[in-house]
Amino acid sequence: MRVLGIESSCDETAASVIDNGKILSDSISSQIDVHKIYGGVVPELASRKHIVNIEPVIAASLKDAGVTLDDIDAIAATSGPGLLGSLVIGLQFAKTIAMARKLPFYGVNHLRGHILAARIDDGESTPVPDYPYIALLASGGHTAIYHVKNWNNIECLGQTRDDAAGEAFDKVAKLLGLGYPGGPVIDRMAALQGEKVKFPQAFRQRRSYEFSFSGVKTAVAQYVAKQSNISKDHLYAIVRGFQESVVDIMVRKVVFAAREKQVKNVVLAGGVAANSALRNRAKEVCLQNDLILFAPPKKRCTDNASMIAYAGYLALKDGLTSPFDTAPRSNWPL
Ligand code: KG4
Ligand code: ZN
Repeated sequence: MRVLGIESSCDETAASVIDNGKILSDSISSQIDVHKIYGGVVPELASRKHIVNIEPVIAASLKDAGVTLDDIDAIAATSGPGLLGSLVIGLQFAKTIAMARKLPFYGVNHLRGHILAARIDDGESTPVPDYPYIALLASGGHTAIYHVKNWNNIECLGQTRDDAAGEAFDKVAKLLGLGYPGGPVIDRMAALQGEKVKFPQAFRQRRSYEFSFSGVKTAVAQYVAKQSNISKDHLYAIVRGFQESVVDIMVRKVVFAAREKQVKNVVLAGGVAANSALRNRAKEVCLQNDLILFAPPKKRCTDNASMIAYAGYLALKDGLTSPFDTAPRSNWPL
């Protein structure tokens, strides 16, 4: 079954063709340049850009896959959660193609896409986890731990009470004047060894799967406000300390979940899973605890359409379809 998947939940317009779960193409058009002058995604501008980009991105994904729409058996698109004005562009485009071509359509939950991304066999010899696994999903809008028993049996064990991890990276980068998106910038800066300023970790001792990242963000803001001037070395020490606080608590909680649930496989998912320190620390701690870590290639951690095509494929293969009156959902917990 060949599935065309479309993703437009935030600031990336993406399309991918997969054939029986294998990736044939993975096209993406990023809007970072549009939004970075504002220090974050401007929803109205994102929608306008999706309208311009959606058709060329889909055309590129068909071309890269060496197919035409005549070769596509089903269409999948993200239908939530995300920015409504962004979601509606990809979703409506997908439903229109499906309706005109009389193809089955499936509306994919973006979080499910992220959580299942580690299972995509991309032919690059990255090992894929068997079910069950414990997934840490850390992105710009979500941070949660899931017990993944099957593609459609995913239990949320706990999530953040306030900011998402990616949001904390972006906000801290903004307050330090480091630019947008903050995650990759902080990742690069913190990779250089040196001193660290110590910042707090919420719920560190608590045996729960909940997170809170607004405290560390405020702690950084208050610390910075107290300094008369900040040297380059001092700035790097702040960035390293902030990243360590966020990474440490996430690794601690995901390993705690795997041990409590007696699950051997641990998966990293979402944009923050591209973070080098998180990947390294998780690998080290999983090894110490006799757990197996699966971290998908970085391009499949951040938003992409292959994960949407893949999650759609699993549902469509099981005979599920979504109606043509499927509406975009800004909020859609798994
Ligand atoms: O999954 P994603 O692409 O979009 C959402 O679904 O939100 O995640 C985007 C988030 C942003 O907050 C971005 O700063 C963060 O992922 N991110 C990173 C890294 N790359 C992207 N955070 C830390 N380190 C990175 N290398
Ligand atoms: Zn995402």
